[in-house]
Amino acid sequence: MKIFIDSADLAEIKEAVALGFVEGCTTNPSLLAKAGRKIETAIPEICEMVAGPVSAEVVATEFAAMLAEARSLAKLHARVVVKVPMTLDGLRAVRTLAKEGVRTNVTLCFSAIQAMLAAKAGAAYVSPFVGRLDDVGHDGVELLQQILTVYRNYDHATEVLTASVRGPMQVLQAALAGSHCATVPIGVLRQLVKHPLTDAGLAKFLEDHAEGQRAAR
Ligand code: E4P
Repeated sequence: MKIFIDSADLAEIKEAVALGFVEGCTTNPSLLAKAGRKIETAIPEICEMVAGPVSAEVVATEFAAMLAEARSLAKLHARVVVKVPMTLDGLRAVRTLAKEGVRTNVTLCFSAIQAMLAAKAGAAYVSPFVGRLDDVGHDGVELLQQILTVYRNYDHATEVLTASVRGPMQVLQAALAGSHCATVPIGVLRQLVKHPLTDAGLAKFLEDHAEGQRAAR
């Protein structure tokens, strides 16, 4: 499963890329606002830092305006993937953009039927928001399993990009379900490597090593 960094903060992205296993980046209007960045300047900078796909989201909601915005975002860098919301206008835009060779990521996906429509429209990625589903008492992982079943049943090429990740357990569950990618905030990326038994085991090895060095001739 590919792991992306879910951030528009350049310091966080730099830290994530340095980990060596991050293969893409996703942004959204909220993350850009939090980072205090304009999309036109932030996205090219992020693309220079991250070797894989970088998602940049449109804020237009009407078909023609969405298309115009998507085309200008796609021109920012060859690796830009245009994020489009799961709406009727959004799906129309995805279909047109696919014909033009612009890769899209259909965002705010909360049902397997929505994901099926994104695939039929020609999206490169679909982003199920597992954390936001869990927040309202639904099962985000069950949604992933349903989408992956539908995609396998009909050989859809769209990749499932698990989004709205709140913790390491969701990353594991996404991988077990067979999600193609997961986009993960920096705090969760830091947690992925951690295990108390690893820390305790390392401390003991170092302690034994120091004692062994003292005792050895
Ligand atoms: C990424 O593509 C999504 O926009 C992001 O993961 C949403 O996360 P949130 O639910 O924590 O805002």
